[in-house]
Amino acid sequence: MRSHALLYVTVLLAATATSSFDGNINYGSPSRRHASLGIDVGLVKRRSMKRGNVAHQPSELSFTHGVASGDPWPESVILWTRIAPSSESDKSEVTVGGTAPLYSHDTEKYIKADPNPICVAWKVFKSKCANGTTAGNVVANGKAYTTSDIDYTVKVEAKGLKPLTEYFYQFNVCGSDNKSPIGRTKTAPNHDDAVSKLSFAVFSCSNFPNGYFNAYGNAARKDKHDYVIHLGDYIYETGKGGERATTPSTTIFSLYDYRTRHGQARYPSSFPRSGTNMCSVPYRPGPATAVQELPLDPYLGRPRSVPQFSNNGYRDGFSALNNTEDSFLNKGPRVSVDTRKVNAVRAYFEWMPIRQADLDDGLRVWRSFQMGKLLDLIILDTRNYDRSITSLGWNDGYIDLIHDDPSRTLMGARQENWFYRSLSQSKERGATWRIVGNQIIFSRILEDDAGALRGDKWDGYVANRNRTLQHMYDNGIDNNIFLAGDSHQNWVSDLAWLGTKDYDKESGEGAVGVEFAGTAVSSSGQKGPIEPKAGDYARGMIKRNEEMQWQEGYYRGYFILTVAPEQATAQFYGTPPSGPPLGRHERQLTLAGGAGSPSVATRNGWDMPLANFTVQANANHVSRPIAGGKVESGAIRGGEVRHTNCTLNTETGEWRAIGFEQMFLQT
Ligand SMILES: [Fe+2]
Repeated sequence: MRSHALLYVTVLLAATATSSFDGNINYGSPSRRHASLGIDVGLVKRRSMKRGNVAHQPSELSFTHGVASGDPWPESVILWTRIAPSSESDKSEVTVGGTAPLYSHDTEKYIKADPNPICVAWKVFKSKCANGTTAGNVVANGKAYTTSDIDYTVKVEAKGLKPLTEYFYQFNVCGSDNKSPIGRTKTAPNHDDAVSKLSFAVFSCSNFPNGYFNAYGNAARKDKHDYVIHLGDYIYETGKGGERATTPSTTIFSLYDYRTRHGQARYPSSFPRSGTNMCSVPYRPGPATAVQELPLDPYLGRPRSVPQFSNNGYRDGFSALNNTEDSFLNKGPRVSVDTRKVNAVRAYFEWMPIRQADLDDGLRVWRSFQMGKLLDLIILDTRNYDRSITSLGWNDGYIDLIHDDPSRTLMGARQENWFYRSLSQSKERGATWRIVGNQIIFSRILEDDAGALRGDKWDGYVANRNRTLQHMYDNGIDNNIFLAGDSHQNWVSDLAWLGTKDYDKESGEGAVGVEFAGTAVSSSGQKGPIEPKAGDYARGMIKRNEEMQWQEGYYRGYFILTVAPEQATAQFYGTPPSGPPLGRHERQLTLAGGAGSPSVATRNGWDMPLANFTVQANANHVSRPIAGGKVESGAIRGGEVRHTNCTLNTETGEWRAIGFEQMFLQT
């Protein structure tokens, strides 16, 4: 009888330990059933029970990369942190080494794994006040383990929450006072809720060596958004030196490389300061004195970003690593395309606060969010999942020849059919708006007077675009808003099917929605001077492309999309580019900090409104006059460009017109 009781207790303990491992989603991430990506949790657990293991003391551990949250559902949200004895990523390559079955970390044959699991507890609570984590205030809590196998990352799903509700959360090392920063998050509305308004801060292309991520901080300090969408190039794969040198210093290929690069993008010093206020001051933008150093995550939930594995990725390669013997032997450390992709996928799921969309499909990130009756957010992967060959630098002429080949696909058949079904289901369930997030520009863009198209956008996959438009037109699917990144410039267009459906460029009649494509957080766009060079480029674009309403390529920045039942608005904000290379004069001015024009060359809070656009529900085009007839920069159809240089310092709340002549015109 007694032995049975002991056995029962042992089994119970084992089950509890396993459930704590399972509580960390990253042990199954992206797929437990993937031959090269799954982790044998049982092995990890047994390894930790070996005699002689010495557990980490809480004082030896740090929350090295802050906290983050994402993928909000009505009753749950994903919470993320990293707790480790070192900020350096784990060097293990065994998961993708190609010879180890599943995740065999139990011997030193492959690596020297850290055998000691780290236990973290987490809490979700209603108020961020000092007593926020007291018992009555905590609405969800749990415990999870992490180890070197998953680079000491922790990803949990906090369940049992209320829809469209703001929460705070915090991790701590089990049984200790070693605590993470406090993060803030927000759940999604129920799918059938009547929602009066939702706002999204939309970012793209955050290139670390190119400049500071001031755009993140500006949006956080203004605190006007509910959720964040990052459309692509969250990290870049190339290595650079200089003031903001990359780690690793070289182009990334291995799992360690990708983990380290993600870590650099999330390291506290990489982030700007946030204005997410503590409980003692008004929650919405408060007085300047209320601005505090951020808990690392400035976001209110990150529905989804799409991964950057390497430049111009497609199903079989990248621009700088082709699936050929020559490329394998001569580009990098002899890592195959497939292995590099697996490395990138594994690190991406470890480091991003996202859900696993499909346990049988480790590459899948395309998915959708039903946000009340107001909107469906449909996120596509138009790069890495299953697209036909793209422009790779050496084959652009070939892509020109086949860009309208009907067999070409941007998403692969499985995703493409899911996309069309998602659009139809959204319309059938009565959602007012369909927001489609993807990496690359959807609208046709004639690059020059000869009609050149760029093959790495939807322009390189004309048949896929036509199928999309046909599905929308044939099924009466309207109120579509496409979001795009990648180009490092701003573009606003009506969603028209040129050459097939009537479209009036003056009124916008005939379109089925709009496209808002945003510039980069820090990646290079149009070089200055702002006039006439960048302005000439923009004016040429507007002249050639009848559905295009605004083009602007000089500023770095982001936009805020606000969606209500009656209308949607997009407010674009900018900071000037840093180069590289910056003009010597610009560089001196920005680094000196005196001339004061906003720039990503320094860490600052300068934020310049560029243009505001409105789309009325059921109008299916940008409201006229475009942007109210006036924008800060670039070129618009039927309106005026006025360079006011009117800039908000988001750290002080002060508005000033600063430095235009010196900063923006060539000296
Ligand atoms: Fe980019």
